[in-house]
Amino acid sequence: MTKLRLAILISGRGSNMESILQSAEADDYPLEPALVLSNRPNAAGLKTAEGLGIQTKSVDHTLFDKDREAFEAAMQVALKESKIDIIALAGFMRILTPWFVNKWAGRLVNIHPSLLPKYPGLNTHLRAIDAGDAHAGCSVHWVTEGVDEGQVIDQAKVAIAAGETAASLAEKILPLEHALYPVALAKAARQITPR
Ligand code: GAR
Repeated sequence: MTKLRLAILISGRGSNMESILQSAEADDYPLEPALVLSNRPNAAGLKTAEGLGIQTKSVDHTLFDKDREAFEAAMQVALKESKIDIIALAGFMRILTPWFVNKWAGRLVNIHPSLLPKYPGLNTHLRAIDAGDAHAGCSVHWVTEGVDEGQVIDQAKVAIAAGETAASLAEKILPLEHALYPVALAKAARQITPR
């Protein structure tokens, strides 16, 4: 089986990244993790990835002032060097420009902690509770120019309990994210070809 070369982009803890890396150890997983890239040089997830023997790089967005495309161009160099076929955003907290998104159209996937199309953007759990929703969850979706607007690949959901807080809901949803992302990413990968 020819495996697609995967880059995982992170900004922090990297627990979703770790879940993908664990799944990718299986022989029949269609993706080979080739690079973990962070916009924060101190992201805890970089150390986790290194410990698992994965190549890591950081491109510090603060060094590019407010020039998003220059930051992304530096990421693009790293992605090309690692001959990446597909990118998974896993807690990557920078909004990507149309320039970058279009370069990776059909090869760029994200996990978002809400039942999209509900609650794109930030503070998703609190917004679901405040709206009186019966359920919350997470979505893996293709990335397009609009933030959190691309087609959903798969979702997982849980009931919102009485007295639920944003923190308790996040704690309930995170394990669902870890179960969902590797499977949904493999499903996405089966729709694309190596470059
Ligand atoms: C996850 O809950 C992910 O869904 C969310 O950030 C967390 C990252 O955790 N992503 C977003 O909010 C994207 N807008 P992790 O670093 O442990 O995977």
